[in-house]
Amino acid sequence: MAGDTLAPAKINLFLHVGAPGVDGYHPLCSLMVFADAGDRVSLHEGDALVVKVRGPFADQLAGEGDNLVLRAARALLAKARGPQALSAFTLDKRLPVAAGLGGGSSDAGAALRLLREHMTPRLDDAELESVAAGLGADGAACLWGRPVLAQGRGERLSPAPGLPVLEAVLVNPGVSVSTPAVYAAFDAAGIFGDVEPPPMPEAFESVEELAGWLATTRNDLEAAAVALAPAIGDVLATLSDEPEALIARMSGSGATCFALCQSEVEAESLAERIMAMKPDWWVQRCRLGGPWG
Ligand code: C5P
Repeated sequence: MAGDTLAPAKINLFLHVGAPGVDGYHPLCSLMVFADAGDRVSLHEGDALVVKVRGPFADQLAGEGDNLVLRAARALLAKARGPQALSAFTLDKRLPVAAGLGGGSSDAGAALRLLREHMTPRLDDAELESVAAGLGADGAACLWGRPVLAQGRGERLSPAPGLPVLEAVLVNPGVSVSTPAVYAAFDAAGIFGDVEPPPMPEAFESVEELAGWLATTRNDLEAAAVALAPAIGDVLATLSDEPEALIARMSGSGATCFALCQSEVEAESLAERIMAMKPDWWVQRCRLGGPWG
């Protein structure tokens, strides 16, 4: 038994958020894409269900107990028909944690896909999707790593419009922000967005066309996140000042922001300049779209 896969970073190209319902959750509408960069999850034969975490952001994880990889694996094994060989995971944590990149959900999705390959009988996609959806609002969206339009709490998925491959730069100022805290600050401000899907074409032909359209959309959590972590405002201002950034916006509840660029060369030069200016920031050039092999 062995396998290894990318757990791609998730980016919300836009994120419209409405007033909370009685359960405290917020209705939303978001166009999500995935990066060709992320964590890596591997599966090995083992005599206990464990996850070993390594990599540059390993120490930011709270502890094995609440690791989503383990929760996902336990939930999938509970659906197994018949005994299964126990499995050991390695999680190479390359993405910052609590960063608006869906890292935990994407790790869980990767673990589910890997584990399913080694189960007998093999569970079907719907069973995998129901486990993923039970792990959090963006669990289902992060299972397959393909572009989607997410609605409801984030679990109601429909296909995204056609997108060109997007050259991008991700930037995180090195602050973790708690998603519930950002939503609480958003509620306190009391300005709620419209969550009807904005009119969009069937396909965007170029990044310029997409960036122009995205400028008519928003990340409604941006102001609340900037109020909690002003460094996010520095990232957005820095990216917006650079000529290569066609658009700069925060992803999810932050603190990671992205810029879309016209070409790989422009994205590379933007990434290099930001790294030189702000050596403490996490900067990652990548392509957005998905799914990535
Ligand atoms: O579902 P998940 O654990 O990813 O959500 C984390 C937190 O984000 C929730 O506890 C809730 O505070 C907030 N949230 C929300 N509305 C959503 C998604 C998440 O209020 N649609």
